[in-house]
Amino acid sequence: MNDTAIAVSGLRKTFGDKVVLDGIDLEVPAGTIFSLLGPNGAGKTTTVNLLTTLMKADGGTARVAGHDLTTDAKAVRAAIGVTGQFAAVDELLTGQENLQLMVDLNRRAGGGKRVVTDLLERFDLVESAKKPASTYSGGMRRKLDLAMTLVGDPRIIFLDEPTTGLDPRSRRTMWSIIRDLVTGGVTIFLTTQYLEEADQLADRIAVLDQGHLVATGTPDELKRRMPGTHVRLRFTTVAELDAAARIFPGATRDDETLALRVPSDGGTKSLRALLDRLDEHSIAAGEFSVQTPDLDDVFLALTGHDTEAAL
Ligand SMILES: Nc1ncnc2c1ncn2[C@@H]1O[C@H](COP(=O)(O)OP(=O)(O)OP(=O)(O)O)[C@@H](O)[C@H]1O
Ligand SMILES: [Mg+2]
Repeated sequence: MNDTAIAVSGLRKTFGDKVVLDGIDLEVPAGTIFSLLGPNGAGKTTTVNLLTTLMKADGGTARVAGHDLTTDAKAVRAAIGVTGQFAAVDELLTGQENLQLMVDLNRRAGGGKRVVTDLLERFDLVESAKKPASTYSGGMRRKLDLAMTLVGDPRIIFLDEPTTGLDPRSRRTMWSIIRDLVTGGVTIFLTTQYLEEADQLADRIAVLDQGHLVATGTPDELKRRMPGTHVRLRFTTVAELDAAARIFPGATRDDETLALRVPSDGGTKSLRALLDRLDEHSIAAGEFSVQTPDLDDVFLALTGHDTEAAL
């Protein structure tokens, strides 16, 4: 494989008259994490389905692991692993049996038992290995699902919303497993609705909205396209908010929450100046916080609507 794990150009997919992907381009260097970010229905799973040969595109070209998606689908399938949005775990089988099934399907000569034991240990599933998967929690199921994907030792792994529905602790476990995979040279194509997740994991992020990639870049690059750091002041009365808005003309106000956003570099000097200013005018703020932009702000800035409104 060369240095590009996934290269996509002009990828299109429509369902009936609904255009889900309207010609998207992207490139994922080998050994990196690429995150496709978007709200419900943006087309994340569709993209994964196309790139993993589960579905056919209406247009465009894509190479995965150096193989053309349409002319060499078999070679693509041999190089990749997919953990779908909905766990592919067989409920009736135990964790151990699910893994063994994958080993058998992969026709791994010998060593199959070792692979199963290793994966159970690595994913902290030894204790429940002999229980039916139907008794597993959502987090355990997701871990088992990913473990099953790893049986074939794929060099490129597609993870469709791997942490949706997981509690913060299980999410962190999943993140560290994903990071370990990348340390081992694996390329990860990850979809998520969690801006924080993309921020935490991804080398590059693409934001999918209404059929287009509206932005691509590193988490920091995307953040730089944002209004920037600001101080948020909250007041208890409209009169106070009015008074504060008068002394900080560059600020934006939110009447509903009685809050004022004052642009600031967040340094001690400017914070002190800001507080002195409030003091001079005898205005007291009920709340005071320094806010750096997060990816939620990025989404709002890039798409003109927030992630909720897009639902
Ligand atoms: N097989 C299909 N037939 C018809 N429409 C489909 C099909 N698969 C997906 N769609 C539509 O395509 C759009 C994108 O769906 P997709 O599942 O790719 O979104 P998503 O970004 O994965 O969303 P979510 O975050 O909810 O998983 C949706 O409007 C969906 O209804
Ligand atoms: Mg999906």
